[in-house]
Amino acid sequence: MRALLQTSLHGPAGLRLVTDAPVPVPGPGEVLIRVGAAGVNYADVMRSHGTYEGGPAAPFVAGLEAAGEVVAAGPHVTAVHVGDHVAGTGAGAFAEYMLLNAAALTPVPAGWTDEQALGLLLNWATALAALRPLGRVTAGETVLITAAAGAVGQAATRLAVHYGATVIAAASAGKHDLVRELGAAHVLDARTADVAAGTLRLTAGRGADLVLESAGGASFRAALAAARRVTGRVVVYGVAGGDATVSNRELNFTHPVHVIGLHLGILIDTAPDLYAALLTELSALRAAGVLTPGTPAVHPLADGPEVLAALQSRTTTGKLALRP
Ligand SMILES: NC(=O)c1ccc[n+]([C@@H]2O[C@H](COP(=O)([O-])OP(=O)(O)OC[C@H]3O[C@@H](n4cnc5c(N)ncnc54)[C@H](OP(=O)(O)O)[C@@H]3O)[C@@H](O)[C@H]2O)c1
Repeated sequence: MRALLQTSLHGPAGLRLVTDAPVPVPGPGEVLIRVGAAGVNYADVMRSHGTYEGGPAAPFVAGLEAAGEVVAAGPHVTAVHVGDHVAGTGAGAFAEYMLLNAAALTPVPAGWTDEQALGLLLNWATALAALRPLGRVTAGETVLITAAAGAVGQAATRLAVHYGATVIAAASAGKHDLVRELGAAHVLDARTADVAAGTLRLTAGRGADLVLESAGGASFRAALAAARRVTGRVVVYGVAGGDATVSNRELNFTHPVHVIGLHLGILIDTAPDLYAALLTELSALRAAGVLTPGTPAVHPLADGPEVLAALQSRTTTGKLALRP
């Protein structure tokens, strides 16, 4: 089959289109899907550099998220059938066929195409987890969202507005109209502004009740300073700009805030009831018309290296996808 192989850990340039990758065979609890569309995520950029925690050594078939039609099922799969269209996460999504764990996928909603269902899990469930069970957002609160124009960021912005929060969006210039259209009340330039000072100014010195922090590096430090002292929460779910630290001394004296880590894969594995509740809430949001079919920018599989490079260079907005 055709697939994008990560041949070295030198970033997106290490991706090669091959035509002779073996079609995987589903084992117990797995289904084989014909990939209709594969989601491109920031994690793919990190895996291409070997900086994703626990990521594979090269060579490996890249990609972590896809939607498509089930064409074969392994032993012990009962709830999913050949012909179903499903979306899920797993290794090797940038290919014509991939395996998914039958227990952790979601049906493509009726009337939606495969590509419209991308992001349901990785983007919307992450955004919802950050805002609700972990971030405990309530109506009337102020939420600072980093990378607000990105795939997770757009979902988070729409959800925060839906739940009655005032959104301060941080994004590169050129993406500001987009986040305003999604409902952000205020926009800060993620590259040139002092995001902490801007947030304090917009909140009359109190700080944001909740910060969704995925940009990493200096953005993590800004998030600590932007959060409201004592009651403010900082949910950390990305490290795009690199590692950053907070000390026990700072949490004691200068940043007495709640720092909360989030990794969706770990949440799925270790808190399945919480994940089930997220999926139920996402269904309700779909029924209420808050979560609408996705509109990813879809590119041919062969353009994968350029698409990942664009994601890495901060020039993209919203969801990106590859069609095999
Ligand atoms: N923990 C989890 O379970 C989980 C799940 C899904 C995603 N994530 C994380 O959430 C973040 C968003 O993921 P996504 O796939 O939706 O990507 P994305 O937000 O569409 O793209 C990344 C965006 O991050 C911003 N950014 C800020 N500093 C950056 C830097 N130094 N390098 C690159 N980008 C930078 C850029 O927006 P501006 O230029 O506008 O600032 C860029 O467009 C990523 O950090 C990802 O790893 C975590």
